[in-house]
Amino acid sequence: MSELSRRDLLKGAAIAGASVATAGLFNPADASAFPGIAESVAAGSAPDAVPAGLAARATMMGVPFERRDTVRFGVVGTGLRGRSVIGELLAIGDGVRITAVCDIVEEKARRAAKMITDKGHPEPAIIVAGERGFEQLARRDDVDFLYTATPWEWHVPVLLAGLNNGKHSAAECPVGTTLKELWSLVDASEKNRRHCIQLENCNYGYNEMMVNRMVHAGAFGEVLHAEAAYLHDLRRILFEDRDEGLWRRTWHTTRNANLYPTHGLGPVSWYMDIHKGDRFDYMVSMSTAERGLTLHREATVPDKSNAKWKERYITGDLNSSLIKTVKGKTILLQHDVSNPRPYSRLNNLQGTKGAFNDYPARFYVEGQAGGERWTNVDTYKAQYEHPLWTKVGELARTNGGHGGMDFVMAYRLVECIRQGLPPDFDVYDAAAWSAPLPISEQSVAKGSAPVKFPDFTRGEFARTAG
Ligand SMILES: NC(=O)c1ccc[n+]([C@@H]2O[C@H](COP(=O)([O-])OP(=O)(O)OC[C@H]3O[C@@H](n4cnc5c(N)ncnc54)[C@H](O)[C@@H]3O)[C@@H](O)[C@H]2O)c1
Repeated sequence: MSELSRRDLLKGAAIAGASVATAGLFNPADASAFPGIAESVAAGSAPDAVPAGLAARATMMGVPFERRDTVRFGVVGTGLRGRSVIGELLAIGDGVRITAVCDIVEEKARRAAKMITDKGHPEPAIIVAGERGFEQLARRDDVDFLYTATPWEWHVPVLLAGLNNGKHSAAECPVGTTLKELWSLVDASEKNRRHCIQLENCNYGYNEMMVNRMVHAGAFGEVLHAEAAYLHDLRRILFEDRDEGLWRRTWHTTRNANLYPTHGLGPVSWYMDIHKGDRFDYMVSMSTAERGLTLHREATVPDKSNAKWKERYITGDLNSSLIKTVKGKTILLQHDVSNPRPYSRLNNLQGTKGAFNDYPARFYVEGQAGGERWTNVDTYKAQYEHPLWTKVGELARTNGGHGGMDFVMAYRLVECIRQGLPPDFDVYDAAAWSAPLPISEQSVAKGSAPVKFPDFTRGEFARTAG
């Protein structure tokens, strides 16, 4: 895999390197930063406005990591996801150290530290110092790469602390929840010449990587349309008095939008060469009424004095959005975590020569044996299985969550750093994949009116071929 970078990972062609940082400091505490960029649905600002100060900045697209034999990670937020990723990083073995962990709950930080020492690694620094303890971690000189799996509201402050202290920094999804926040990440990544990444594990799924190869080999012809989603019955988890139940349900009281766009949209963006010649242009969005959480509360919280009864859920249960790209492709993007159903990210694709549908995986390539019927993965596996899965698939299935894709993602990230390659995704992908949250919110609030996406790349997307 060493010779493969991002799109073959995908198709080839890393872009030539970076140039030097310019411009002054962005102060995230400064409320006037990026005037004119919409911070809330009420702001009414042009959603596609570009902050003036960024015009002369050098891009981070294609900028390689500095090569390191050993990558030293600092992890902020050692809850369910943080510890899962720690497990996958440790399973890689050579070339990985986790030197610091941080959480607001000591027991969680200590559980993470024990995972590390149980593997025979030195004990990491354990930072439990309140909600901004991550600033101590970000300042440490034994951390090369900061990864955060906190509740959503902390992703941006943690990422900015990492970037502003010279660390490559990555978060779970969504990386930010307002356009202003997303621009602040672009600004900080470019200014500090450090990568800001959303570690989207779903891009490394077995089917997703195989379909991506087929797309780039032309098997489906020209890609016209894709469908992406996060359809996952989270009602029980959302109402627990621990873990995500402590913070995630609150988002359903504040935003009527697609709250979690990236798991489906990340892979589809790779199929569609988003930021490799194309980008999201605009979105129309609509939400159903809210029902699921209200019904679930009625059914499971009999005590009416429970604080949960003070909550008013405003996120429509099923949000459906359509994205048009500047090259005319379309994407259906959905979100529903409040109703009973089997899990799906849709992961559907239509091209001029064939189609792929997931859940379960089905392929149709015009002219294939058996006529106009779906066939399964075995038909195309030998030709198109991704080499990364061929190489580490067995290890991934044993050591990685979500069917192995989490391990493949961790393995690939470490490989990119150890070999001095550019990361598979950058701050522009992170911003664009999270932008559907504020953009869908605006469209829903405006009666499904089309809302423009910003071009976080400021024209660079068109200079890079897919
Ligand atoms: N990629 C995936 O497949 C996947 C799966 C699950 C969760 N996630 C994402 O991971 C993130 C975390 O989710 P989770 O399920 O682990 O939730 P969790 O509640 O189990 O963990 C969050 C952790 O962050 C800690 N925390 C809260 N504020 C903090 C702060 N200021 N500084 C340091 N630590 C802080 C909490 O104490 C907790 O341990 C979320 O963004 C979620 O959407 C991604």
